[in-house]
Amino acid sequence: MTPSAALIVARGVGKTFYTAQGPLEVLKNVSLDVDRGEFLALQGVSGSGKSTLLSLLAGLDRPTEGEITLDGERLDRLTQPQLARVRRNKLGFVFQSFHLVPSLSVLENVQLPMAFRGHGFADKTKALALLDGVGLTHRADFLPGKLSGGEKQRAAIARALINDPLVVFADEPTGNLDSLNGQRVLEMLEKHTVHVGRSLVLVTHDADIASRAHRRVYLKDGQPTVKIDPPT
Ligand SMILES: Nc1ncnc2c1ncn2[C@@H]1O[C@H](COP(=O)(O)OP(=O)(O)O)[C@@H](O)[C@H]1O
Ligand SMILES: [Mg+2]
Repeated sequence: MTPSAALIVARGVGKTFYTAQGPLEVLKNVSLDVDRGEFLALQGVSGSGKSTLLSLLAGLDRPTEGEITLDGERLDRLTQPQLARVRRNKLGFVFQSFHLVPSLSVLENVQLPMAFRGHGFADKTKALALLDGVGLTHRADFLPGKLSGGEKQRAAIARALINDPLVVFADEPTGNLDSLNGQRVLEMLEKHTVHVGRSLVLVTHDADIASRAHRRVYLKDGQPTVKIDPPT
């Protein structure tokens, strides 16, 4: 079987949350491809389902309808342990809330995904190089609790890159940063993803950040639309 150019193929994907107030249909009949090496920006107003879609594409949650294939594997059919393996070996994440381990140093947090793959707290040189890339060398031995919001975000980005993932999913990764640091962080993400043939799927409200994507997809009423940029 020849691998398709698309790394991620979503077909007819729906997501309904069953809440105490009744069913909430957040995504309906979403079909979307992400190519290898592509930088895709996901946009839309707050509550439009961007984080939900990111979670489905990254195998962190399951669709209630439809199919999601990532690197030839049907995520919607995998068991939880199989999904965990895919996430560990193929994916990197930068969450809105960072998810740094408070009892580990910044350096150890960056090394943690390697430890999860059974490599121990190995490859300190690579972890330090990534920390250097996000301007955090001087914070390597700090605990996350001592970092500013922007520094935590940059540590989370270094951690997402340590295992050379096929795709990095980032939920508003520049949200807490001023525009200079936001650009720096984006450049670092691009350098380690799209510049080396990996994919980057990024949720952002920032039009300048989104303008650097290969493609922008807007979520509205549970469905993706390709935005026609207004004339400048
Ligand atoms: N686990 C959940 N249970 C119930 N409703 C949820 C859940 N997660 C998200 N939602 C709802 O789904 C909608 C989309 O949320 P989200 O994907 O976080 O939007 P966005 O990231 O675009 O702001 C919102 O109305 C939100 O309240
Ligand atoms: Mg969100």
